[in-house]
Amino acid sequence: MAATSETIIRFEGVTKRFDDTTVLNDVSFEIERGKFYTLLGPSGCGKTTILRLIAGFIEPTQGNIYFNGKVINRVPANERQVNTVFQDYALFPHLNVFENVAFGLRIKKMKNAAIKEKVKEALRFVNLEGYENREIHEMSGGQRQRVAIARAIVNEPEIILLDEPLSALDLKLRTEMQYELRELQRRLGITFIFVTHDQEEALAMSDEIFVLNEGNIQQSGTPTDIYDEPINRFVADFIGESNIVPGRMKEDYVVEFAGHTYDCVDGGLNPNEPVEIVIRPEDLEITTVEQGKLQVRVDSQLFRGVHYEISSYDDAGNEWLVHSTRKAVVGERIGLYFDPEAIHVMRFGETEEEFDKRLEEYVEADDAE
Ligand SMILES: Nc1ncnc2c1ncn2[C@@H]1O[C@H](COP(=O)(O)OP(=O)(O)O)[C@@H](O)[C@H]1O
Ligand SMILES: [Mg+2]
Repeated sequence: MAATSETIIRFEGVTKRFDDTTVLNDVSFEIERGKFYTLLGPSGCGKTTILRLIAGFIEPTQGNIYFNGKVINRVPANERQVNTVFQDYALFPHLNVFENVAFGLRIKKMKNAAIKEKVKEALRFVNLEGYENREIHEMSGGQRQRVAIARAIVNEPEIILLDEPLSALDLKLRTEMQYELRELQRRLGITFIFVTHDQEEALAMSDEIFVLNEGNIQQSGTPTDIYDEPINRFVADFIGESNIVPGRMKEDYVVEFAGHTYDCVDGGLNPNEPVEIVIRPEDLEITTVEQGKLQVRVDSQLFRGVHYEISSYDDAGNEWLVHSTRKAVVGERIGLYFDPEAIHVMRFGETEEEFDKRLEEYVEADDAE
């Protein structure tokens, strides 16, 4: 079967204001059918607002929302093929598991026999067969989570929206549920739009991530795109730990920072343009002062289980965080080694579109040589 990519949701210049406050500012994006999407960003950046717009609980102030190619700005929530799993699950405490899951079907006036069949199937999907008669208060946090998901999938929606559904769970259960949710999405083939403020969760679960800040999409792409090629300081900082230091582009593939010049793989910038340099802590290797490309003094060190997290400073005063399986000695001078590919150059104020264009142009120019 040929893979087809089909747009199911499209935001076109969507702005949402509450009174004088602009919560979403001219947001445009596309969601393809059958994929797992994550909206990632700090608290208050507009994630829940996007879900509420898709679900139909609120209307855009400006712009259009398309569902399967048709504008749905004013289509009421109950006429959309969308179900939401809320942060607090919003289960009915006075109904048992069966009736919680059956709720939407009862509203649709489905026949009892059909309801029984569908609820059973939905509970099987979330590994809760045999729990039909349990009361909600008899269920653990993880089980309630599954009931909430069963209640969403039983309606066979085209899209499931999940608003920070794992944030109330402890770390171990949370990791288990990440696997389960991802697996469930693959089996169902339904489009999932998942919200989290946890970058590791987003990287682990998603086909595509939208990184949001203050009502704008900063960057969208696969987890590796976003991790390896953050377009600005916000994304680099928000997605995992980063070293971000000031630098200057000397010419294509040559950059200066921390008082030295280095070969790199970036280009398409102006000669001597000021830039920001990102190097991930795990891309720095500890070596001798002589063999290092950069010399630093070790300031502090923490053992993190898998690696040591070492904080160090170069002679220009930049801090360099290093993740290393080798232990360092606090106060000692060491060398840091890194590959040209580990250096990532960011242009000030560059938008995602400009970034993509530049990348394309200098890769093409390079291929033509
Ligand atoms: N009904 C509302 N009236 C006024 N302000 C709102 C309303 N809903 C959300 N906001 C504001 O919009 C911003 C984004 O909210 P939200 O989308 O819930 O953020 P997130 O889910 O990313 O934490 C917040 O500053 C919030 O206070
Ligand atoms: Mg929210």
